[in-house]
Amino acid sequence: MESRKTVSVVGAGNVGEHVASLLSMKGIANVKMFDIPREVNGKVFEPVKGKALDIKQMAAGMGSDVYVEGYTVTPDGNGYENLKGSDIVVITAGFPRRPGMSREDLAERNINIMQIIIEKIKQYAPEAILIVVTNPVDIMTYVALKLSGFPKRKVIGMAGVLDSSRFKALIVDELKVSPKDVNAYVIGGHGNEMVPLISLSNVGGIPIKDILPPDKIEDIINRTRFGGGEIVNFMGTSAYHAPAFSVVSMLEAIIFDTKRILPCSVYLDGEVGNYYGVDGFCVGVPVKLGVNGVEDIIKIPMIEEEKRMWKESVESVRKTVGMVEDILRERSTH
Ligand code: NAI
Ligand code: 2OP
Repeated sequence: MESRKTVSVVGAGNVGEHVASLLSMKGIANVKMFDIPREVNGKVFEPVKGKALDIKQMAAGMGSDVYVEGYTVTPDGNGYENLKGSDIVVITAGFPRRPGMSREDLAERNINIMQIIIEKIKQYAPEAILIVVTNPVDIMTYVALKLSGFPKRKVIGMAGVLDSSRFKALIVDELKVSPKDVNAYVIGGHGNEMVPLISLSNVGGIPIKDILPPDKIEDIINRTRFGGGEIVNFMGTSAYHAPAFSVVSMLEAIIFDTKRILPCSVYLDGEVGNYYGVDGFCVGVPVKLGVNGVEDIIKIPMIEEEKRMWKESVESVRKTVGMVEDILRERSTH
């Protein structure tokens, strides 16, 4: 019990509460949840406290002896003292997409939230590893890194694991095979230009390009890229089961030091050599995850078509990073 890690989840909305719930079900970490109050018809509720109690009772029923607690915080940053003792902080606070919105549309609103949360994490959990989920995730990971000043290997964005699961699910559907035998990888920015890797994705070791006709692969690539949007259009808000599970996969790799290779959004700079032209921002690439966070960044070979998609994807991230830097610069001078 003593040695169990503590994961704090800031933002206990759809994704955050499912992360907390999965962690508790699996019994792999103590969980602290933080969220703001909600006012309905003039009455103020504290949903995070109710959600934590509910999860705690589920854990008790299952015989999972994790500690779960919920803390109400204010939007201007009061109430974060209980971040103390967090080994990992997952940030899911912020606005999700609604139909017709891109992830980039969320940038300015979510930076405001991120600024306050990062300040508090610096104050109360300065040694923690950060997993950023809030969209646009590559940008928010960069913002979290810059504002926190934390080591670059300890600030990690979640997207590639989710996008790869979507890619995998489509291959499974098409070929009626077990997902256990499908290796499917998506890298690049978490936007519509993301890069499903055709050359390295395989079923039972056989490259998908040798199993599926080009038009089917094209169709799967498009559906992977718009997989998030497809769900937004059905639900009016974004996905949370697969996203929460993806976060938990990353947490397990870090907590149990498994050294899994997972695509994550990380800061790329000269230290990892020239990663296909990216220098100075965060984007999704395969990394080795362990107890220290990102323990290695893996440069994979790409075919020409993938290089073309990569360029498009990272240019789109680079553009939004530029916009966000302007916002941060403007704020620091006022
Ligand atoms: P949600 O609206 O269900 O939850 C967000 C939570 O953040 C709410 O409970 C809200 O009260 C809380 N929050 C808002 N302002 C806050 C503040 N100042 N301090 C603390 N908490 C605050 O949204 P959902 O579906 O959980 O998504 C959360 C974020 O994650 C969104 O930005 C969404 O776009 C992103 N996302 C990213 C994915 C990825 O692959 N990186 C996948 C799924 C979602
Ligand atoms: C997703 O891809 C909205 O980024 C979120 O589902």
